[in-house]
Amino acid sequence: MPRATATFVCQSCGAVHPRWQGRCDACGAWNTLVEEVAESPLGLSAPATSPGKRARSGSSGAGPALVTLEAVTPAPDRVVTGVTEFDRVCGGGLVEASAVLIGGDPGIGKSTLLLQAVAGAALRGASAIYVSGEEAAAQIQDRARRLGLAAAPVRLATETRLEAIVDILKREKPALAVVDSIQTLWTEALSAAPGTVAQVRTCAHELVRHAKKAGTALILIGHVTKDGQIAGPRVVEHLVDAVLHFEGERGHHFRLLRGLKNRFGPTDEIGVFEMGDSGLREVPNPSALFVDRRGQTRPGSAVFAGIEGTRPVLVEIQALVAPTGGFGAPRRAVSGWDSTRLAMVLAVLETRCGIRFGGHDIYLNVAGGLKISEPAADLAVAAALVSALGDVALPPDTVAFGEIALSGDIRPVGRMDARLKEAEKLGFEQAFTPMAREARGKKQPATGPVRILPLESVSELVQQLGVESRPGGAGSSGPADDGL
Ligand code: TYD
Ligand code: MG
Repeated sequence: MPRATATFVCQSCGAVHPRWQGRCDACGAWNTLVEEVAESPLGLSAPATSPGKRARSGSSGAGPALVTLEAVTPAPDRVVTGVTEFDRVCGGGLVEASAVLIGGDPGIGKSTLLLQAVAGAALRGASAIYVSGEEAAAQIQDRARRLGLAAAPVRLATETRLEAIVDILKREKPALAVVDSIQTLWTEALSAAPGTVAQVRTCAHELVRHAKKAGTALILIGHVTKDGQIAGPRVVEHLVDAVLHFEGERGHHFRLLRGLKNRFGPTDEIGVFEMGDSGLREVPNPSALFVDRRGQTRPGSAVFAGIEGTRPVLVEIQALVAPTGGFGAPRRAVSGWDSTRLAMVLAVLETRCGIRFGGHDIYLNVAGGLKISEPAADLAVAAALVSALGDVALPPDTVAFGEIALSGDIRPVGRMDARLKEAEKLGFEQAFTPMAREARGKKQPATGPVRILPLESVSELVQQLGVESRPGGAGSSGPADDGL
């Protein structure tokens, strides 16, 4: 009989404490410790040196065998699903005997995406299994019909018991298996409820172990908590080879698949999808989605030539600047960008260019629900803000990128050529860019298909837009409060 000991496990990070305390020492979260009786499931928590394990590891009991680097078997095959954006984020398909965790908010489209991927792989001849603990087989069939995939040779199981799923993996040795979702699983070996750290961790661990043995590419679906973590423990993230995030804004049709960790491919890669009536449609050219060509002639709109993952993506940045009504503090509402970064750009514009936003509400929005984290977006944001405040549109067919320093200088950013090429591809004719270091103080560089308008400082941008920068400020009304 396994010996049962009570431990207290943080439901946020999975750290184990011997006694209850209000705050988890490991992650600092409050009131997250829950008592769990740690039994010994499937011999899992038995010490690694237990006699049973040693016997199983074969050879003379001297531990795992060593191989020279040279003798390591070459990279394993990949299971291609045909959902190109998904395959690309995975690094060119799913590696056999590997495990991927896909997290995302409930209702974002995880089950839809994975059903499409599994069906795609099955149609390409891979043996594929979809295990659902969330929906009945009829519901899944219904969805498959809606996606036009009812005829795909995917085998379904509606099961939440770990032991039963492990049996399926052992018996079928499928090339690809999806388990939807990790939070619904439970093992007989533990008395804790499904969804608790102990259950999630044990089930994930066992599934990954058996998938690797069976040569299966395993995909685990996980729901995400309010604070954006994959519910249950971070420990699952350590158990798997790749962690992907499926995200999108409510009310938008775009969905982004983002690689957060990948042992077999690039991280920071994104795949773009559009949710429609017949499922997720891939968007091979996202720039066309995030830029509304007609919108650019309006004040307050600037097109940022950014890099998402390995791909250049153009995205429209919209700013609205309106006088603050009443006596309240001015509002700063940002969507898709960092509000601290906005405060910095505003401070630089005020201090270095005398453009005053005090007494104005500011709304900044990144089109299409995209979230941008690159500092290279500074220049486009500044352009949108100045254009909105001065009520002048940017020159037509112009993109912008560049990082703004506190001094007001525009700093060079990476992958200029890729950004310019993407702009050219979408028919843009000129670009506000940082001045290349070697070109400082010299005349403008030679022009390519996209005319480069290099800027040394943010005040040059303000000049180019023809917005007057005078003390007291363009469009400023009322007293010069700091507004931030
Ligand atoms: P789902 O894949 O069930 O989300 P998750 O598994 O992440 O919880 O997708 C749910 C939403 O997607 C639901 O609100 C309906 C919508 N949807 C469509 O708009 N079109 C479709 O073809 C499908 C299958 C779903
Ligand atoms: Mg689902």
